[in-house]
Amino acid sequence: MTQAEPEAAESVVVESFHYDPIQADAEPIQSIPGVEEFFEDYLELDYEPARVALGKQLFHDTRLSNDNTLSCSSCHDLRYAGIDRSATATGVRGQVGPINTPTVFNSAFNFSQFWDGRASDLEAQADGPPNAGGEMDSNWEEITTKLSQDKVVMDMLSAAWPDEDFSEGIDSRFWLEAIADFERTLITPAAPFDQYLQGDPSAISEEAKQGYQLFKDVGCTECHNGMAVGGKSFQRLGRKRPYFNSHTGGVDLGRFNITGDEEDRHNFKVPALRNVALTGPWFHDGTQESLSEAVRSMGEFQLDLDLSDGQVQRIVAFLVSLTGEYEGRSLRDVQNTAASNQ
Ligand code: HEC
Ligand code: HEC
Repeated sequence: MTQAEPEAAESVVVESFHYDPIQADAEPIQSIPGVEEFFEDYLELDYEPARVALGKQLFHDTRLSNDNTLSCSSCHDLRYAGIDRSATATGVRGQVGPINTPTVFNSAFNFSQFWDGRASDLEAQADGPPNAGGEMDSNWEEITTKLSQDKVVMDMLSAAWPDEDFSEGIDSRFWLEAIADFERTLITPAAPFDQYLQGDPSAISEEAKQGYQLFKDVGCTECHNGMAVGGKSFQRLGRKRPYFNSHTGGVDLGRFNITGDEEDRHNFKVPALRNVALTGPWFHDGTQESLSEAVRSMGEFQLDLDLSDGQVQRIVAFLVSLTGEYEGRSLRDVQNTAASNQ
């Protein structure tokens, strides 16, 4: 059901609130599986721990940047839900970039990578930052020269591909595959919402249950659905009310920059909402400073709906219940620990 009238939404949804019983098979959102099941059943890939181990090393390795100052994890800090906690990213030599850093957690669910979807998969994506002048400003030849002098890394590479002979040189595709395989392990199952989906009614608050019902009723699930609660289509930001009043340059053109097609102007990949409570500031331009603000804007610009404070609060409670676990620990706890050690 879509609410066309903001006032109707207010009176119907807030005054006499109901929510439907959960039917896991019929819900627009599904639970995230464990890592091995994800590789084998969902991605139909072999789970190779030696490749994952190499990828983890590379992800945290500053030798991927020209001046050895930045690794992938500098911008995608796994202790902080895979982001840099800034409106836009900062590359080598303090260069401030034009766009917000999305999380690497659950990026394996995305049907394409980057806000504008210009990389078709994680391997193609990982080729971007090392070569980007504004990010790591290096290239694979330079990186391979540095890494091939490190016996630990070379042993990990041989363990990952025991049948390959690397004595004549190393194709960058091996580094990229290892990084991508590591990223495929960065999925976050066991969120309170997943426990709720799996039949535990006490896993989330009443407020979050009502928020989920609203999320479905007002039409958020049209774009944000599936295991990752997004990542499955391109959609225009400002579909119902103009978002880009005067600001129509650069990265704000979104997918138009890739296709040149008018239809794609201001189209962005719908972000996955797993762990979204921890990944602010929000939107491709990093303009939304609170989750409430982001939810309110979505109602306005995507659905032509002025959500009430109570509705926003319920939806936020639902979104908070999407915070999952990595290596058996809630990302929320991981972040709190990191913050208290700073
Ligand atoms: C200087 C900061 C920075 C560094 C270093 C960096 N990234 Fe990113 N990453 C970003 C930004 C900013 C974006 C979004 C760019 C865009 O969409 O145009 C991004 C996008 C991504 C995405 C796409 C996620 C999505 O939802 O579309 C993945 C995956 C990713 N980075 C992984 C990596 C890996 C792997 C490395 C190391 C090889 C890396 N990043 C290095 C800032 C950085
Ligand atoms: C027509 C498709 C569509 C609908 C409907 C929609 N969204 Fe979105 N949502 C998007 C797109 C596209 C973005 C990325 C915006 C950008 O480019 O900055 C987004 C971004 C978000 C973000 C920020 C994520 C981030 O990592 O920055 C949140 C939170 C969000 N949506 C929640 C909602 C909620 C809640 C609703 C319902 C009230 C909703 N969305 C309805 C398409 C949609």
